Amino acid sequence: MPLHFASLLLACLPLLALAQDDPVERLLAQMTLEEKIGQLSQLGIQTTPTGPVIDQGTQTQMPVTLVGSVLGASTAQQTRQLQEQVVNGSRLHIPLLFAYDVLHGFRTVFPVPLAQASAWDPDLAQRTARAAAVEATASGVHWTFAPMVDVARDPRWGRVVEGAGEDPFLGSALAAALVHGFQGAGAPDVSSMLATAKHFVAYGAAEGGRDYNVADLSERTLREVYLPPFQAAVAAGVDAIMPSFNEVAGIPMHRHTALLTGLLRKQWGFTGLLVSDFNAVWELGPQGIAATAADTARLAFTAGVDIEMASQSYRQHLPTLVRNGQVSRKSVDDAVRRVLTAKQRLGLFDDPYRYSDEARERASQLTPQHRALAREAAQKSIVLLKNSGTLLPLSKQPGKVLVVGSLASDASATIGPWAGAGRAEESVTVLQGLRNAVAPGTEIVYLPGASPSSPHIQDIKQVERTARESDLLIAVLGETAEQSGEAHSRAELGLPGGQNALLSTLLNTGKPLVIVLMNGRPLVLDESVQQAPALLETWFLGSETGNAVADVLFGDVNPSGKLPMTFPRHVGQIPIYYAHKNTGRPPSGDGSYASAYIDVPWPPLYPFGFGLSYTSFVYSSPRLSSPRLTSTQTLGVEVTVTNTGKRAGDEIVQLYLRDDVASVTRPVRRLRGFRRIHLAPGESRSVSFSLGQQDFALLDEHFSPKVEAGGFTVFVGPDSTTTNQAHFEVSDTRRLPIAGQSVPPALPNWAAERLSIICLQARNSEAT
Ligand code: BGC
Repeated sequence: MPLHFASLLLACLPLLALAQDDPVERLLAQMTLEEKIGQLSQLGIQTTPTGPVIDQGTQTQMPVTLVGSVLGASTAQQTRQLQEQVVNGSRLHIPLLFAYDVLHGFRTVFPVPLAQASAWDPDLAQRTARAAAVEATASGVHWTFAPMVDVARDPRWGRVVEGAGEDPFLGSALAAALVHGFQGAGAPDVSSMLATAKHFVAYGAAEGGRDYNVADLSERTLREVYLPPFQAAVAAGVDAIMPSFNEVAGIPMHRHTALLTGLLRKQWGFTGLLVSDFNAVWELGPQGIAATAADTARLAFTAGVDIEMASQSYRQHLPTLVRNGQVSRKSVDDAVRRVLTAKQRLGLFDDPYRYSDEARERASQLTPQHRALAREAAQKSIVLLKNSGTLLPLSKQPGKVLVVGSLASDASATIGPWAGAGRAEESVTVLQGLRNAVAPGTEIVYLPGASPSSPHIQDIKQVERTARESDLLIAVLGETAEQSGEAHSRAELGLPGGQNALLSTLLNTGKPLVIVLMNGRPLVLDESVQQAPALLETWFLGSETGNAVADVLFGDVNPSGKLPMTFPRHVGQIPIYYAHKNTGRPPSGDGSYASAYIDVPWPPLYPFGFGLSYTSFVYSSPRLSSPRLTSTQTLGVEVTVTNTGKRAGDEIVQLYLRDDVASVTRPVRRLRGFRRIHLAPGESRSVSFSLGQQDFALLDEHFSPKVEAGGFTVFVGPDSTTTNQAHFEVSDTRRLPIAGQSVPPALPNWAAERLSIICLQARNSEAT
């Protein structure tokens, strides 16, 4: 043995001994290929009269215990029973991971993510995610498929309800907060769960807003708009990432080696799990890049997808692919190691049942504390869109009140389209909340009148008669929970069903009318909706919906939410978002040859960041620490905000930045800071922000990050249309290191990465 080899071996001996002690390595050394690939398979469950069983469809020739994780079990009893089946029934007794979509609560349902984004409050989002994790983990759920961090600029897409809206900066702040919330203190804390950032990437850019549709977008838009929330989630230590159903520029995301392995793993250093979306490995076939199920397995696995959810191409075909050399044993070991490491971190090798705890489940779910948090979150998520004539807040003795609209009593709408283990019957409807809030003796009459899911209107004569006899009308209008969410895109965004007819009946009476909107996306609110003097956007607010709506309507809480997504006037304006680019002929310009419409005004109905209050806030001009700075210096920006009204209230102070002239076109403004502050009547507070090179930077024409010398405009105000501004200059141009790049790239900066994305087929060598 040559000397240098011998010394290498000696040096490695302690490491080998360490590997022996490591339960993950010990297991790996004992596992057969089939057992390893089982760990890379995630199956659903079936409930049978004797309890839950793992559902492996028609693959009955394979031992059902050859599985690594299970989707859909949601009680401590179910997870314990399934765990017993696998731990006792398999050769190596490797415990399962239980996964579930815990998006905005578990048994206690918090506002849907789009609503929580309206609160602009990362701390609140973190607290709701923590509470959800406390509840879900008690039922044995180890792993959530949340947060959904897809930027969404097309409200036709039904899944906008699951995310934080149109802005990458707000989306990134919430992504990080939610990851921290779900993960909590981290293992071995038994309330810590694995979080998943999904759906990677550009799922929200589906053409025509049609779910699952292709996304064909520029590399710039991908990098500047769609990737940042994922990068924020990775920086926050997210445990897993789920690729999306869509393709990006010709490559299905479950086959996107350049983005999954190149960007996520190599450039960003992501070491967690890559879990497929439901059936999406198999769907590489219909997407047109795989002729056989074996090909789907090979393409997805070699692109970097560790775990296959629902379809079973890995279970069926990976063993052969490995044996015939098309997939490397090392890449299988690496993926299995990631799965086993997650199980070890959660303490499942010490006690596979430590999460499934019926006593903790009983004690931790739907507690008064969680209900209080749900109410706080719901209050902060409500956006007051209109309040002319100060109809709101209402008196608690409003006289006779007519509440109309089927949504007012629709408990299932309150919890939204993806409600975890939430139960509609445990949620407070708007009608119930109003009844809880009014002074004793107040007469509230309820007539459904119309529903979003049916064109028929019910008892319209009675509605009209009762409306005329009433002092106040409250119409709860919008969408049912089923009208948004996955595979629920809409081409028309007005009030569906018979609600418009109901509304015109109410408007004809001339009685004071408040419209409470419940919906999962920005709607197109036509002129009849705008005739109502008061309009409240409440989205789907969760378990405490009715109480929170009443708190705001009656003024116990001053509304403070701000829109996280632009409301178009017309569906033909979509996509519409505040951070658009200017053209050479901006729509705001004079003259008829401008980038606008001849039939509809170009601005939105309600802009991003918009929301009213029962009080009024006045902003000072922004004060800058200096009108001129170098690219490495930090700029201080300060404003004084004064509550000039008669009520205490929260204001969400927003800072936007524009790069006035640059080597590439820039958005007209970009959100770069926000702060929720509370002000008593008459109180003033100064709010400061600091901006640095990451805020000034752009990707140049070669996708190299840099700060360019020149002028910038900073805007600080109550929404994205504010003109409250100041100007400053950056005196020098400077290249920046590539964010997330742990190792300096071999090729000059971003050129390497860019090449790998654009020319990926050519560069992707199969991992063998
Ligand atoms: C959705 C994912 C979800 C998965 C599991 C899919 O249809 O796209 O967001 O996590 O199902 O429920």
